[in-house]
Amino acid sequence: MSHKANIDLQKVPQHVAIIMDGNGRWAKQQGENRIYGHYEGVNSVRDVVEGAGEVGVKYITLYAFSTENWNRPKEEVDALMELLVSTISAETPALNKKNVRLQAIGNLNSLPVTCLQELNESIDLTSMNTGLTLVLALSYSSKWELINAVKHIANDLKIGNLESDQISEEHIEKYLCTRLIPDPELMIRTSGEHRISNFLLWQLAYAEFYFTDKLWPDFRKEDLFEAILNYQNRERRFGKTSEQLT
Ligand code: FPP
Repeated sequence: MSHKANIDLQKVPQHVAIIMDGNGRWAKQQGENRIYGHYEGVNSVRDVVEGAGEVGVKYITLYAFSTENWNRPKEEVDALMELLVSTISAETPALNKKNVRLQAIGNLNSLPVTCLQELNESIDLTSMNTGLTLVLALSYSSKWELINAVKHIANDLKIGNLESDQISEEHIEKYLCTRLIPDPELMIRTSGEHRISNFLLWQLAYAEFYFTDKLWPDFRKEDLFEAILNYQNRERRFGKTSEQLT
């Protein structure tokens, strides 16, 4: 029986963040080059986004390209950018059909112009959709994001818009890329690695982490449902005791 049938639809995490890892290793296992793995990874993206919508997840954030990924061999970076452009362009009608709104976080101005144009066009074309919001983290890293926020706060202090003893969580959040997005309750990482690799460090403060050995091209909506079920069986205490929760 599908894991989907066992999910309590009243307790679905509203935001799931995913580190899609293992494309390169998957391709190697098939005797192919790394880029083939990224292409296969797109099939997982499609299926998982569909599954998230089916169970009522409101936001799904995918770590598609980190700040550190710019250091990969040029041909891999170029292929990933090309894949992003072609995927975003090809999938926009399907996103509209499924009522999915596309958004992006990261240092988007560092993306190649064609990639940024395609992205902005798709964000625009899907902006009226009211179902799932798909957030692509592109040229993103938490340290970059936090440095950026600190610079804005320093400027607010300098021009007298803020006193240092007024700085609160809200001030920091106001300058994060995710200011309009709720924090993820569930973070999934594929491929057996147990790290968060500079991903949403602030926003994951109270998220539940779910690690699976599956490589990203093998991960499908059924695996997402399994992760959500696992999440639903955890006790989220937010610093309180079990007794306080009941
Ligand atoms: C990590 O696997 C994966 C990436 C750096 C890229 C992820 C991109 C996609 C799945 C395709 C495009 C996505 C969208 C949303 C259009 P890895 O290369 O680090 O694998 P390895 O650890 O096995 O080497």
